[in-house]
Amino acid sequence: MDDELVGYAGLGFTAGPPQAEAEVHTIGVDPAYQGKGIGKALLAALLDTADEVHATVFLEVRTDNEPAIGLYEKAGFATVGLRKRYYRPSMADAYTMKRDPR
Ligand SMILES: CC(C)(COP(=O)(O)OP(=O)(O)OC[C@H]1O[C@@H](n2cnc3c(N)ncnc32)[C@H](O)[C@@H]1OP(=O)(O)O)[C@@H](O)C(=O)NCCC(=O)NCCS
Repeated sequence: MDDELVGYAGLGFTAGPPQAEAEVHTIGVDPAYQGKGIGKALLAALLDTADEVHATVFLEVRTDNEPAIGLYEKAGFATVGLRKRYYRPSMADAYTMKRDPR
């Protein structure tokens, strides 16, 4: 259906030009619609916005979230840190990932 919400994504800027920085806040796709390129398209839209001001982009992702890590690596993110017990209440660990300015 044209008016059905099947995914969402958010980007927040933490600094403006000339050394702009942004964070991917979340990306989620309805499980019934995963694996169809929607997550890739949502992330690409966020990164287009970041690239307009040549922002460095950061995000956190659970260390066991292989689909998300794969999505982010293909978009140019690299793991730059590990945050132990980052998530509450699960206390799961997170990787910090970074994509250099484009
Ligand atoms: C992560 C998520 C947003 C991906 O959305 P999606 O629409 O299914 O992803 P796409 O179909 O666009 O796939 C993009 C890439 O993600 C990776 N990917 C997606 N599903 C995967 C899976 N089951 N296993 C491994 N990699 C996977 C692949 O690298 C894929 O690229 P490819 O198709 O060229 O192989 C989706 O799985 C999701 O909503 N997960 C739950 C919420 C979540 O974990 N969000 C991230 C929080 S940091």
